[in-house]
Amino acid sequence: MSFRLVKNRTFIYASSRSYATEISNASLKPSPYGQPLFQSHSHLIKPDELTPGIHAQEYEDRRRSLMNRLPDNSLVVSLAGTIKYMSGKIFYKFRQASDFWYLTGFEEPDSAVVLEKNHSARGYRMTLFSSGSDSNKEQWDGANTTFADARRVFQVDDARHIDDFPSHLRSVVHQYSNVYVDLPSSRTRRTSRTTTKSLLKYLSGRSEADLVVESLGKSRPKPLAPEVGRLRAIKSASEQKLMRMAADISGRAHAKTMRFTRPGLSEAALAAHFNYLCSLSGAQRLAYVPVVASGPNALIIHYTHNNQLISQEELILVDAGCEYNGYASDITRTYPADGTFTPPQRDLYSAVLAAQKALVALCHEGSNLTLHELHRKSCELLRQELLQLGFQLHPGDLERLYPHFISHPIGIDLHESDSFSRSGSLKAGMVVTVEPGIYVPPSPAFPKHYHNLGIRIEDEVLVGKEHPVVLSASAPKEIVDVEGACQGSLGLESF
Ligand code: GLY
Ligand code: MN
Ligand code: MN
Repeated sequence: MSFRLVKNRTFIYASSRSYATEISNASLKPSPYGQPLFQSHSHLIKPDELTPGIHAQEYEDRRRSLMNRLPDNSLVVSLAGTIKYMSGKIFYKFRQASDFWYLTGFEEPDSAVVLEKNHSARGYRMTLFSSGSDSNKEQWDGANTTFADARRVFQVDDARHIDDFPSHLRSVVHQYSNVYVDLPSSRTRRTSRTTTKSLLKYLSGRSEADLVVESLGKSRPKPLAPEVGRLRAIKSASEQKLMRMAADISGRAHAKTMRFTRPGLSEAALAAHFNYLCSLSGAQRLAYVPVVASGPNALIIHYTHNNQLISQEELILVDAGCEYNGYASDITRTYPADGTFTPPQRDLYSAVLAAQKALVALCHEGSNLTLHELHRKSCELLRQELLQLGFQLHPGDLERLYPHFISHPIGIDLHESDSFSRSGSLKAGMVVTVEPGIYVPPSPAFPKHYHNLGIRIEDEVLVGKEHPVVLSASAPKEIVDVEGACQGSLGLESF
């Protein structure tokens, strides 16, 4: 198959603005690669970048940091994601497994990477396994990156067909006393037994699967995720930039969705509008199924049906964020459907907002706080606010009104929590959410005028040495700004 160099004129939406920019672009169409690269997508990727915003050198630094931390005689095995199917051959849009992507930047499914620690100048040997080019498949799905390009572009010592992965693993695994494996299907509980079983599942149908699993079992594999998780917890300068961009796209979409909202519309229309705005700004997908909850629906924390109509005088709780160039965002705003808070809505909103701002202010290294401590503070602050509003809080009431945790780390994954201890102190470079909420059921235990109000305010915060940086600042949060956005007086057209 040949590729034409097309001199074309392309309209793109500049990612930080909603106006179209005309650019002149020499591009390879169709692309000979399995993912956007500078050679084929110069409007997305700069010359030294492997994925948008991240240089090839940064991927090398990540692998080196990982291998330097591991003991001598270590072997790392990380697997790519596999395509998921809705039914039959109808596939979902593919998303790469997070740890594999963090270590390689390689975006093709059904791939694997093996890193063998050694005493070379690089400190390890990297072998990438992937599907390579296949002209039959290419006509249907487009090209995969060839092994030669993989060696060159992804800086691997060897690139081989995924079918060689089991025999390679079997031939090297017994040389290493420390074997670290990470497998997409064992993300929640990573014991040696489950990883081995998951590997068997992954390899099933492939020759030698039993032998590989047997050899891996003997080597007592350790979970790779906590090792990679420690690296992922601290965001590099380029990751911070991407996360700021993801949060900014989402924040502006929140502002414009406020403006778009009016009684009579469906929750689904708001979700669609938010999604559309994020896509237009360059986001690849939403980072999670959004919550668009009108009125009492907001009392359901994970309300994602998003299929009812908005009524006058209701509050709308929107918990939505996009994924941009590999990084998630996560923002919640609560606002009045018709643009003006009623007095009880305003009072309860002010209570949550005061607590939220006090908690955000604590997100710096100097506070020396753990997430558990931040949560305890959130309970104290919300308790005080509620008492001032006339709530009488008996044992168990606060947990009923505020049933969730205050925060989670965020990055490539929305909840980067698996390997993140809530008992460790916040460190500069971490990104965490701060998301207190109050949800008042229609119970005589609580003041009647607050019944059925559900309010959450969620920001993403980059932990600094001495102060926090709110990445989601473009989403209106102060009452005057929220009402301004809803009423169209914020000049959102220029966003
Ligand atoms: N949107 C999910 C969360 O806030 O954790
Ligand atoms: Mn969150
Ligand atoms: Mn959220």
